[in-house]
Amino acid sequence: MKPLRIGVLGAANIARMFIAGAAPSKKIVVAAVASRDKAKAEAFARETGIARALGSYEALLADPEIDAIYNPLPNTLHAEWSIRAVEAGKHVLCEKPLATTAADARAMFSAARKADRHLVEAYPYRAQAQTRKLAELVSSGAIGRLHLVRSSFGVYFDDRSNIRLRPDVGGGALLDAGSYAVSLVQLVAGRRPARVSASAQLFETGVDRTTVATLEFDDGLLAQVSCSFATAYHRHALIAGETGVIECTYLNHPPMGGPPTVEIRRGVKVSDPVEVIEVPGGNGFLGEADSFADLVAGGPKHWTGATPAESVDIAMTLEAILAAIKSGKPQSVDVFAG
Ligand SMILES: NC(=O)c1ccc[n+]([C@@H]2O[C@H](COP(=O)([O-])OP(=O)(O)OC[C@H]3O[C@@H](n4cnc5c(N)ncnc54)[C@H](OP(=O)(O)O)[C@@H]3O)[C@@H](O)[C@H]2O)c1
Repeated sequence: MKPLRIGVLGAANIARMFIAGAAPSKKIVVAAVASRDKAKAEAFARETGIARALGSYEALLADPEIDAIYNPLPNTLHAEWSIRAVEAGKHVLCEKPLATTAADARAMFSAARKADRHLVEAYPYRAQAQTRKLAELVSSGAIGRLHLVRSSFGVYFDDRSNIRLRPDVGGGALLDAGSYAVSLVQLVAGRRPARVSASAQLFETGVDRTTVATLEFDDGLLAQVSCSFATAYHRHALIAGETGVIECTYLNHPPMGGPPTVEIRRGVKVSDPVEVIEVPGGNGFLGEADSFADLVAGGPKHWTGATPAESVDIAMTLEAILAAIKSGKPQSVDVFAG
């Protein structure tokens, strides 16, 4: 199989990590980078070892030597440039959050279907053995029917020039770290919530800096997601069912200080033993890049990440939480079904 030739849109920080992480892949090659500034593209290409540097995003989309686009632009630009990319005949791996509104997410998938191209949202943790073990335990009924899920992600940012703290490009803890926390709930619940309520502390630029949201499902499942740009790094999930409970991190690149684990208590009592299941770690960008190449070569069953339907559900949930923060009132998620 010839490696999938990927072009990067924008000299983004995360693209450095994607390129370094995916470098050992035999299935993809990052063949070009485009920046709005040619000199910036050239410097980025030199630094990261990419063969070609282009001075505009348009030039990358028109490049016949490129099969697929990695889109790490600021959040508000994900929809426009992913749609332009699929319309130019490229497959797209788009950074999370896929879009800042559910309507944009649907428009992106509709454009991809029309162009017969693959478009998926990047969550490197989904390519991890740790995540697959978690999903397998939940779906096999190892902890019974779920009643409570808690999912948190916090990381410190206070530089107001960072895109995460800029309202004009879709900043805020919810769309950034919170999209991870919501995606984890989506993964284990297997569906979107019916209603959400939320509270947030805002940063001085107006974006949410710390958010806590409650997600209610029609069958009684309750989930709490929290995210913050004001705390020390943490990323943790607790999934509690009728017959057991699971706790784990959901890191992009475990291990962090040891082999990643999934801890499961099989039983309801404090005296029931906790089994610590060790799983292989690794670089999530590598797993994600390989899975993306397999998706393009062999179809959706090879993709380990969020499906288009899951990404739309995540976008609806995020939009509903933002509306709940703004209004101070609970929101029905289906209002954002379009
Ligand atoms: N999956 C993950 O774990 C993960 C981790 C980090 C970030 N991300 C996502 O990746 C995306 C980029 O994050 P980042 O931290 O890498 O951002 P960043 O370093 O600020 O890079 C964003 C790039 O977008 C381009 N850009 C185009 N228009 C822009 C504008 N109006 N303002 C600022 N930049 C503009 C710039 O490239 P040029 O100047 O070269 O054109 C810039 O280098 C975000 O969507 C974020 O959520 C995902």
